[in-house]
Amino acid sequence: MTTLIKNGTVVSATGRHAAEVLVDGTSIVAVMAPGSAPAQAAESGADRVIDATGKYVVPGGIDCHTHMELPFGGTFASDTFEIGTRAAAWGGTTTIIDFAVQKTGENVRDCLDLWHSKAEGECAVDYAFHMIMGGVDDAALKEMDSLVDEGITSFKLFMAYPGVFYSDDGQILRAMQKAANNGALITMHAENGIAIDVLAEQAAARGQTDPVYHGITRPSRMEGEATNRAIQLALVAGAPVYFVHLSASEALERVAEARDAGHNVFAETCPQYLYLNLEDHLGAPGFAGAGYVCSPPLRTKEHTHHNDLWRGLRTNDLAIVATDHCPFCMKDQKELGKDDFRAIPNGIGGVEHRMDLIYQGVAMGELSLERWVETCSTTPARMFGLYPQKGVIAPGSDADIVLYDPMAKTEISVDTHHMSMDYSAYEGYTIDGKVDTVMSKGRVLIEDDTYHGEKGHGAYLRRGLSTYLQ
Ligand code: URP
Ligand code: ZN
Ligand code: ZN
Repeated sequence: MTTLIKNGTVVSATGRHAAEVLVDGTSIVAVMAPGSAPAQAAESGADRVIDATGKYVVPGGIDCHTHMELPFGGTFASDTFEIGTRAAAWGGTTTIIDFAVQKTGENVRDCLDLWHSKAEGECAVDYAFHMIMGGVDDAALKEMDSLVDEGITSFKLFMAYPGVFYSDDGQILRAMQKAANNGALITMHAENGIAIDVLAEQAAARGQTDPVYHGITRPSRMEGEATNRAIQLALVAGAPVYFVHLSASEALERVAEARDAGHNVFAETCPQYLYLNLEDHLGAPGFAGAGYVCSPPLRTKEHTHHNDLWRGLRTNDLAIVATDHCPFCMKDQKELGKDDFRAIPNGIGGVEHRMDLIYQGVAMGELSLERWVETCSTTPARMFGLYPQKGVIAPGSDADIVLYDPMAKTEISVDTHHMSMDYSAYEGYTIDGKVDTVMSKGRVLIEDDTYHGEKGHGAYLRRGLSTYLQ
């Protein structure tokens, strides 16, 4: 089956140009000057012609931070791989990298097998895994080498959540030393969890149990401190480090300093930190703020009004936008913490809206069109060893292609989203653009506001090493 995409503007990380894209089977086979191919399918030799007049033709989005079915606080993130990857497709994301989970005392291999069994045959789009190392011990460290050989080339460590996922500085150093040796990338949740737990306990003892105290007891300084500590440990180990879900200006400053000094320090941020804040959202009346409980927490307006994170995205101190998609319903899930914020499961769902929310940054003049493509697709592919199979419209790459319509609008609402959530963190937002058509490996998944995909179309991706480190 061949498809010709005509009359569109192809956008890459480095520029935009009018071009025709020819897809054969699952791959892109040619990117041609306009007019190179005849207009009609029969004449052009293509089985099908898609008219992209007025639309941007961009590489499918790559969300390198999702948590389908994550166990957290006695419950599980509400999206299965089937539901979550279908929602991703609706939003123009054609690859996810999810986090397999290992905790203290668990066998890394068993945990990875479990994650494969959750995802296999279920996904609408391609998927890969990072490995959460919640229990760094000799066995886990040894297993890191074999995982790298199997395409799991990045590992997440936590400086937060003592007793659950937490690693102490010695464990972090040892994992970083291993990564320095086998070429893996350590991704870091940087918050000082030991200090935060003290603050949270003190707040609860004072009767401060509303959702907003989740944010108040996780000060931005504690993210800045942990970010600095992780950078110093990485420098001692001679390893690169990648900060997930960076939210605080103090953390961004530490990343920028390290990068200016020439170190392999990278960071991502997420739409929730660009758009939402502690006062209006986490501090919403009643229990509504629970829907905005995530870690790191939403930051105060004082923090967000400087637009530091948008600036970081422009300067490349923030290289990637991922979602940290970790949805929970209000009913029976967020409600677990109605009497105590510490029992609210942490996470916000957003895999469906990342491409739109960051395109809105283009519409608002915060980012260029090219930078949108770079932060949402090309850099995630390069950072996590998927390039050039993913992240670019070029001959030989997978035909993961999104047609984006800058003249249409997207209304975000719980009534129309496709995630398994009974609320939307972005309820009522209108985006000045719209995902029009989504193709994954040559197959059209979304067209005319209709889903044409199926579970099992998405396959597991063995990743290579980060191209930023070679
Ligand atoms: O609140 C969050 N971020 N939940 C998911 C787990 C994590 O730390 O990424
Ligand atoms: Zn995290
Ligand atoms: Zn996460």
